Formats: sequence, C-alpha cells, structure tokens
Amino acid sequence: MPESLLIRGGRLVDPIASIDALRDIRVSGIVLEIGEHLEAMSGEQVVDANGAIVSPGFIDMHVHLREPGEPQKERIETGTQAALRGGFSAIACMPNTSPALDDPASIESLLAAVAQRAHCRVYPIAAITRRREGEELCDLDALSEAGAVAFSDDGGWTRDARVMAEAAKAAAHLEAPLISHCEPEEAAAARDLLLALVSEKRWHLAHLSTRRALEMLLAARAQGARVSAEATPHHLLCTQEGAHANGTSTRVNPPLRSEDDARALREGVRDGAIDVLASDHAPHTAEEKKEGAPGFSGLEVAVGAYAAALPDLPLSRFIALLSANPARILNLEGGTLQPGRPADVTIFRDEPWRVDASSFVSLGTCTPFDGATLPRRVVATIVGGEVRYRA
Ligand code: DOR
Repeated sequence: MPESLLIRGGRLVDPIASIDALRDIRVSGIVLEIGEHLEAMSGEQVVDANGAIVSPGFIDMHVHLREPGEPQKERIETGTQAALRGGFSAIACMPNTSPALDDPASIESLLAAVAQRAHCRVYPIAAITRRREGEELCDLDALSEAGAVAFSDDGGWTRDARVMAEAAKAAAHLEAPLISHCEPEEAAAARDLLLALVSEKRWHLAHLSTRRALEMLLAARAQGARVSAEATPHHLLCTQEGAHANGTSTRVNPPLRSEDDARALREGVRDGAIDVLASDHAPHTAEEKKEGAPGFSGLEVAVGAYAAALPDLPLSRFIALLSANPARILNLEGGTLQPGRPADVTIFRDEPWRVDASSFVSLGTCTPFDGATLPRRVVATIVGGEVRYRA
C-alpha cells in the first residue's frame, strides 16, 4: 500500500455515492475517508484541489493499444501515459492487434506486459472469433477466465449471424458483454439489437454514430433488450461537411456523419439513451494516415472535447458517463470513491486550453481537435492512491 495522500479543497462529485460538495478525501491504495476540512497527517502528501473537480477515475472502454504487433502506432507505455494525461485511470483495449487477442495465451501475455509496462489499469477485450475472421468462435469461457472483460471483433463486424447467435449463447452465463462494432452501422446495429433481444445476452454498441441507429437502440430497449451504447468525441462534434476540407486525415470508422446525426448523439447523451463516452483512441503513424488509415488519437483530448460537445450536461452525469457507467458495463471495480474502493481519482478544471497534437505522448498525433480550444482540462490522475500524472 502506498503512503496516504490527502486531496484537499476540491468539489467532490461521485454520482454513485450521491455526493456533490466541497470535500477532502484521504486515500492510500483504497479510499480511506471523506470529510470536511481533514487535517494533513505529518509527512502526508497533499494535493491541492482548490477550484477543481475531484471525481472517480475515468475509464475509457474503447482504446486501441496496438500491442502486440504494431509498435510504430502505439505501445503499452505510450498509450497508457496518454490515458493518464487524458484523465483515465483505466482503459479497456481492443483485440484488433497482430496477432489478435483471440486465445487465453494472448490475453495472459498482454496482461504480463501490462503488469511490467503500463502506467494505468488496462483491461483486455478479447475477440469473438479466431483471428477476428468471423467464422470460428473463440473459447469465450477460457478468454473470460484469462481476464477478458468483454468480447468484440473490433475493426471487423462478425458478419455471419449464426456465428454471432452462437457467441451470444456461449457467453450467456458470462458477465462480459458482447460489443458490436457495427459496420455498415445501421444494418449491423439492427441485426445485433435483434440478437440481443432474442438471446437476452448483455450487449454494447461501440461508437454509435447515426440518428437512426440511436432510434433502433431505443426501440430494442423498449422491448427489453439489455443494450448499452457509447459515443466518441469526434462523432459528437465533427461532421462530414467539416471533414472535406481536411482530406484523408479525417478518415475514421464509422465515418463522420451529418450535423443532424451529431445533434442526435448529443441529445442521446443528454437524455440518457447513451451510457458511455469512449474515445476510440486509434493511433496511426503520419505516413499511415496519409495512406488513408482510419482513426484518431483520442485519449489526450477526449475529456475536453466531451465538455465542448455537451456544455450544458450536468457534472454528475458527465462523470457517470466516464466512470460509473463503463465500470458497470465491464464489471470493473472502479467508478465510485466510496471508502474501501480503489483510490482511482481524476481531478479536472473547467479552464480552456489549446490542443497541440505535436505535444501528445501518444505515438499517434492525428486528431480533428488539433489547434482547438477546449473548455475542460485534466490536472491530475491518481491510480491506486498514487499520483501518476500532474499537469
Ligand atoms: O477508425 C477506426 N480505427 N475505427 C475502428 O473501429 C478501428 C480503428 C483502428 O483500429 O484503427
């Protein structure tokens, strides 16, 4: 257990504990106590959070860490440092690696590398099918046993409906949800929502991007489907109209949509239809981007971009979308700062800052937000009671 740490003077917002008040918080590996005007003990490290918001550590449930296989795009070290800078004490990483995370050995070796080299918590998401080819189902029990928190054929959609139905059956007794990486989005979402409905398996729609997909999600839920959904910063704020000006650098999957779609997503976040904000951090080298590789580096700008997209979103809801909700969906320990829980904390300020992608620690520097001024900035990220990042 690390020495204790006192975070003093901040506005503590914890939606699960129903706290929104000026409170001090003492942590070590876990949260020890919350109170008003806590006195520092002798030798105790103190973080001054005056004027800042103190929240449960943010969790980004959609990150491409690129390990194993593509170290030119990102590595565990750089991706998790980017996460800390962005306020994320934990991330879930996608299986579209080389080779794919499709057997227990690949999950175990990733977790061994994470234990050695990661700066924040990392939870692996395993493939649904071998090599993510959509044909042969992985051993979902064994993957879950090895530490996978969800299943997805990210980067490729599991095309064969029979295989997906089989996956829902094989995963029925597991906590881990199936994640649909929907492409082409609306047809894919329709099929997977139907499968969610008939199988009763818990499902999650990654990077929802259109009004119609959102409407289908609501219709499926109304009939009893257990489906959560996420939105990315770029789909909330950027549109295809804006994209043409910037050429291949704005390529992403799913593509940027219309202003009407982006508006629908923002409404969906406000009214509770969308459960999670997730960056889809998908770094590529500058050369690969020039050749048309889809994806943006998202971790270091996400929090500021979400705030820019949703300026009127109540703070407790903003925080739930980034902590309690992803923790619940992936069945993780974090998401709240009640005493006894892991001391993962994000401290941020409502203070404008200018994005300079050339200063990213991520190896990927392509973002549609380069040069933008964003209204919210992370000032510290604490993992298990240790200050791992401080602005
Ligand atoms: O744009 C994207 N890039 N979307 C994805 O879902 C995959 C990602 C990648 O891995 O590069």
